[in-house]
Amino acid sequence: MQLYWVPEFEIGNEYVDLQHRYFLDLITRIGKNLRETSDADYKRKLIIELHKYAEFHFASEENLAASIGLSGVKDHHQLHLELLEDLNLYAKNLDSGLKTIDEFLEFITDWFLVHTQHEDRKFFKTKK
Ligand SMILES: [Fe+2]
Ligand SMILES: [Fe+2]
Repeated sequence: MQLYWVPEFEIGNEYVDLQHRYFLDLITRIGKNLRETSDADYKRKLIIELHKYAEFHFASEENLAASIGLSGVKDHHQLHLELLEDLNLYAKNLDSGLKTIDEFLEFITDWFLVHTQHEDRKFFKTKK
């Protein structure tokens, strides 16, 4: 799976778009690194890297939204918490062998695209 950033993914806030672009690159790179190794500790560290960036991006996006006066920051924060929970659960299943790397990558790509293209897009449109 190789997913490339396309201009259609932009939601119209330059900081959010910059972070989303990096996020997608990170998913692609981590996917490649996961496939290339059989070292369980390294795999865990790759997932930690992804998780930390997700946490950073969610906090940053909420602060950016607050700085331009968007309403619904609290509700959006709730969605971010649910995304982190889903990521944790899936990472656990990957670690225990319940899910394959391919299944994990399919999940994480969907997880990223559904939220950014629907929820973030809708959220940042509330700015008049
Ligand atoms: Fe986002
Ligand atoms: Fe978001």
